[in-house]
Amino acid sequence: MDYKAFVEEQIASIRSAVGDHLAINALSGGVDSSVVTVLGHRSLGKQLKTVFIENGLMRKDEPERVVKLFAGMGIPVQLVDARADFLNALKGLTDPEEKRNAITRTFYEKVFGKLAREIGAGFLFHGTILTDIEETVAGIKRQHNILAQVGIDPEKEYGYQVLEPLKTLRKDGVREVAKVLGLPAEIAQRIPFPGPALATRIVGEVTEERLATVRDATAIVEEELRDTEAFQYMAVLLNDRATGIMNGKRDFGQIIVVRCIHSVDARTATAVELPWKKLQRICERVTALKGVNRCLYDLTPKPPATIEYI
Ligand code: XMP
Repeated sequence: MDYKAFVEEQIASIRSAVGDHLAINALSGGVDSSVVTVLGHRSLGKQLKTVFIENGLMRKDEPERVVKLFAGMGIPVQLVDARADFLNALKGLTDPEEKRNAITRTFYEKVFGKLAREIGAGFLFHGTILTDIEETVAGIKRQHNILAQVGIDPEKEYGYQVLEPLKTLRKDGVREVAKVLGLPAEIAQRIPFPGPALATRIVGEVTEERLATVRDATAIVEEELRDTEAFQYMAVLLNDRATGIMNGKRDFGQIIVVRCIHSVDARTATAVELPWKKLQRICERVTALKGVNRCLYDLTPKPPATIEYI
């Protein structure tokens, strides 16, 4: 595929679709939304407003880091604090699809709908990729960013049209586009991170305390595995507990799963054969976190597993 031509086609089609209107997009710092942000700005300049929704589900220091990075590329990003909205919407929910649905609804209706109305945006850009659509249509998982594909008319329900310039690409294609757009390797090669963020890595209820645990574990795993060639790596907090020993006493603690996978396009995946010493070190650091007394390494390929846990 000629990715240069792809970029040119997309820029032309974005310009003709949006015309003189205003558009808005949300940047999460992942590859897909980063590419959409740059593509959108190349096409529309000041007609596109980019926001970073701080949903409380992000990785450590992520909102500030991403805003700063894009400011350095000349793209202003507004940070919107919506932590309370998301945490309230997730309260008491344990079913994976209900959690995803709560995040979708909060994102589009409450936070984004309001912002779009405030700035008078008629268009919303989204970093949906082909794999998201296929898995949603196949009924495997309801990706948070699929609307039309699940029968929601965003114009009718939320008052804006959704544009998805990456919907014919898979992850490897998106990275090629990132390169063509001149994005730094820090973004172009960044491991995928899902839109519903750390909520996909908490089995059971998402609470502030549980988020803090998985956020700390994620920071450890990302730091330790940064130099691997893996497609993606993560920490997951299970809903179960296990008996352990803390300060010489019996303790019923939390369980963190570490996942590190090879994949080309996220449709299939296999566990990376990590060096034992590396695994031991991760285990040591993760079980030093407050309340965590077990650390497991997940060997399951996709299928039968998916990559994320909800
Ligand atoms: P699964 O868990 O479905 O993940 O095997 C496949 C790839 O997609 C990412 N993922 C998501 N990305 N919104 C996204 O933008 C989502 O709702 C979502 N769910 C999973 C996941 O991290 C993996 O790379």
